[in-house]
Amino acid sequence: MVKKNTCIFISGEGSNLKTLINNSRNHNFPIKISLVISNNANAKGILLAKKNSIPFIIIDTKRRYFENFILANLKKYKISLICLAGYMKVLSKKFLNSYGKMIINIHPSLLPKFKGLNTFERILKSDEKKTGCTVHFVNEKLDAGMIIIQKIFFIEKDDNEEILKKKTQKLEHKAFSEAIIKIFRYS
Ligand code: GAR
Repeated sequence: MVKKNTCIFISGEGSNLKTLINNSRNHNFPIKISLVISNNANAKGILLAKKNSIPFIIIDTKRRYFENFILANLKKYKISLICLAGYMKVLSKKFLNSYGKMIINIHPSLLPKFKGLNTFERILKSDEKKTGCTVHFVNEKLDAGMIIIQKIFFIEKDDNEEILKKKTQKLEHKAFSEAIIKIFRYS
């Protein structure tokens, strides 16, 4: 199998990145993590990239042409899939059109419910009985691209934000890899 060169975008902890790195060691897993990009120089996920000898780039989203810099690197590393794994910035329409290849995102809710930020806080304030995570294709609308996979669990009465996050991320770590396998199933 020829693995697809993949770039993972992160902003923080990198627990999804960690699972993807581990799974990509399996020769049947369709991607190779060739590059990690972070908009946060203090993201713990960068340490994971370092530890696993994966090239990484820290970007400054305040710089005018930062997206061109990203595009040049995606080309350099022959990236054919971008995974947004806790990347907390929105990519511009221009960037999406210029890249033109697959971009997928993981979101900690059952989309189309609870798009955007502060997801767990909003879920707890609602009267939802269940929640979960979604992996979806990225388009120019926030958290609105075609859904690839969702995983669900029931909210319990003692669940707080921290517990919801823990339960959601446990499912995310399975969902992201399953989504990747699904999109490359016939390639
Ligand atoms: C994940 O739970 C992901 O769903 C969320 O950030 C977390 C990153 O965790 N993403 C968003 O909220 C995007 N809107 P990680 O850094 O440990 O993978």
